[in-house]
Amino acid sequence: MNNLEQFVAAIDRSHQPLSKSLAASIEEGGERLQVLAEDILEHYKRLANDDMAVLAKSFATMVLQFNRLQYKYEMTGKYVSQNYDDVREAVYENTDEMTGMMFGLACSQFAWSNHFKLWCFFEDNFLAKLSNIKQVLEIAPGHGYFGLNLLRRFPEARLTGIDISSTSVDMSRRIAVEFKESAAEYHLQDARHLDDEYLHAVDAIICGELLEHVPHPEEIFSSIGKSLRPGGLAYVTAAITAAAPDHIYEFETPEQVIAMAAGEGFSIVDQICEGTKPLTSKAKGPPRTLSMILTKR
Ligand SMILES: C[S@@+](CC[C@H](N)C(=O)[O-])C[C@H]1O[C@@H](n2cnc3c(N)ncnc32)[C@H](O)[C@@H]1O
Repeated sequence: MNNLEQFVAAIDRSHQPLSKSLAASIEEGGERLQVLAEDILEHYKRLANDDMAVLAKSFATMVLQFNRLQYKYEMTGKYVSQNYDDVREAVYENTDEMTGMMFGLACSQFAWSNHFKLWCFFEDNFLAKLSNIKQVLEIAPGHGYFGLNLLRRFPEARLTGIDISSTSVDMSRRIAVEFKESAAEYHLQDARHLDDEYLHAVDAIICGELLEHVPHPEEIFSSIGKSLRPGGLAYVTAAITAAAPDHIYEFETPEQVIAMAAGEGFSIVDQICEGTKPLTSKAKGPPRTLSMILTKR
C-alpha cells in the first residue's frame, strides 16, 4: 500500500464518519492530489514514528474539533476564543495540542478539497510568479510545508521562518531535515512586532493562516510591508467566518480583508476564495479562506 492508501485505511478503520468526504476529495483531486498526499504523508509520517495511524488520528481530531467550534460559532455569532494570551497558552505552547493540530493541518492540504485548491493556487499562481528570489521570509510556518516547497523550486533561495510556537519551530526544523534542506532556518519570534531585521530585504513572503490568529491583523500587514522589498510578492491568507481553537479575529467577508490590505499599502495581484457549506442556517456566511498575492504600492 502506498502512503495515501494507508492513510485512507486508517481513517476507514478508526474514523469512519470522515471516510466519505475524504474519498470524494481524493476522487476530485485526481493525480495531482495523489502526488501531494504521498509527499506530505511520507515526510510527516517520519515525525510520527512512521505510524500512519497517528497522522490519521490527528487529522480526524482536528476535523471534529473544528466542526464543533464552527457549530458553536454559527449559533452564537462569536468565536469561542477571544483572548490571544489564553490561546497562546492552550495551543501554541501546548506541545501535544500543537503537534496534533500541525499534523492535521498538513494532511488537510490534500484531504480537504478547498485546501487542495488553495494549494494549487499557491503553486500555480504564487510560486509561478516568482523569479530571481534570494531571501524568503515565512511568517508562522506552523508545519513548515509551504516554505520548504518554495525552496524546492528555487534552490538558490534562503528561507527564514519565524513562529511564536516552539513546537512549530521544532517541527519545521525537523521537516527541513527530512527534506534534506539546509537553506532554511527557523526562529522563535513574534511576527506582530518585527524590528528592522528584514527591512525591505525580502524578495518573497509566505504568511498562511495567521491574520485571524492575532487581535490586530494590521500589525502582521505592517510587518510584511516593512520586510518586503519594492516589487516583492507576499502570499497571505485569511480565514473568513471559519472557527478554530486559535481563531480570535473574525473577518466576516473577503472585502474586509482586502480593505485592510489596501489600507496597509498593498495592491492585490491575484486572489482566490475557497470554502465549504455552513453547518447551520444561522451562519453569517460559509467558512472559507481568502488567499491573496500582494505587492506594495
Ligand atoms: C494555523 S498555523 C499556520 C500554519 C501554516 N502557515 C499554514 O498555512 O498551514 C498558525 C501558526 O501561527 C503561529 N502564530 C500565532 N501567532 C503568531 C505570532 N504572533 N507570530 C508568529 N507566529 C504566530 C502559530 O504558532 C502557528 O504555527
